[in-house]
Amino acid sequence: MKDKIIAQFKEVFGAAPDIIARAPGRIEFIGNHTDYNGGTVLGAAIDRGIWVAVRAVPGNEASFYSGYAKKTVKIDLARAEKQAGDLNWVNYPLGVWTQLPAFGLKQPGGFQFLDISDLPSGAGMSSSAAIELASALAFAGLTGEKPSRETLVKVAKKAENEFVGVPCGILDQGVSGFGKKDHLVFIDCRGPVFETVPLPADAHFWVFNTHTKHALVDGLYAARHRECMEAAKVLGASLLVEATLPKLEAAKGELDATAFKRAKHVIEEIERVAQVRAALAKGDLVTTGRLLTASHRSSQAQFENSTPELDFLVDTLATTANVFGARLTGGGFGGAVMAMTNGSFAQADADRVAGLYEVKFGAAPDTLHLKTGPGAEYA
Ligand code: GLA
Repeated sequence: MKDKIIAQFKEVFGAAPDIIARAPGRIEFIGNHTDYNGGTVLGAAIDRGIWVAVRAVPGNEASFYSGYAKKTVKIDLARAEKQAGDLNWVNYPLGVWTQLPAFGLKQPGGFQFLDISDLPSGAGMSSSAAIELASALAFAGLTGEKPSRETLVKVAKKAENEFVGVPCGILDQGVSGFGKKDHLVFIDCRGPVFETVPLPADAHFWVFNTHTKHALVDGLYAARHRECMEAAKVLGASLLVEATLPKLEAAKGELDATAFKRAKHVIEEIERVAQVRAALAKGDLVTTGRLLTASHRSSQAQFENSTPELDFLVDTLATTANVFGARLTGGGFGGAVMAMTNGSFAQADADRVAGLYEVKFGAAPDTLHLKTGPGAEYA
């Protein structure tokens, strides 16, 4: 990929880049919609991601070229405003550039920017966080600064929240920043505190990408965010992480049925994350897998961010040999299911699951056997 991005950069801009950075995509292992509620979450950086190359040029103009959109967009940095429509992709690196001063970091002046990706497309592995992290690192390279990993993660999240306008938590950026091969990233989102947790050698990840996406997915994510904040307020908490099941039960009469279910999911999911950590520390993949599937059941019944397609995959995987557990991964409302399997689960098994899905839904999901990999780094 490094040779490829250098060659493309030269082709588009006529010179070699000064800095190359890459950041990985992620899978959400467990901790569904817990991050913006101040809870805990476990994710894994995968060994694929987004590569960004940049070169400083005189002036105050940025030229962005995306290997995906295959065109160059020029932005006058004195007027770095949010782009609309098919220029939407520029908002990720541009958003990062706008947030640098809030963290005491210098903004590079004129520059050329190019990105390429080896992330499976549309698989819900957070290409947005990957491009944000890679951009933050590349810009720091241009200005000669060395911000901490935590600062890079925070710059990226602020860009997503305030420039792109998605009220996401810190999961995607945190995992892309702190990923480590053969490890999960544990985040206590209130600190935030980042840790890496070793993965038992027999844990394998498979992702089944349905390529389905609820038409209202952005609005539904924001709606769940709002419902959680409202439930917290009724419970007298600033975030749901401060609530407990007994408190929730006691307040049942004051919450509407929907708010009650959302809060129950978040409170129990935070508990499941703790149980998974304890099980992993003992190398207990059977218990871990059971908790992964329980997380999905809660998404299905309480948080209502699953779909018939995702449920079918989880139902099928849960009764397939060599699968420890399965759940939707990421925001939900379509997207992908991840399964944790042992090493005996093979492509033929994944194909069988995909075949059953195809009979029911008319199109086969992509099946991907994913490896974990390092977090954002210079290449
Ligand atoms: C998306 C968001 C994350 C997180 C998950 C759900 O991936 O970007 O911040 O909220 O959904 O857990």
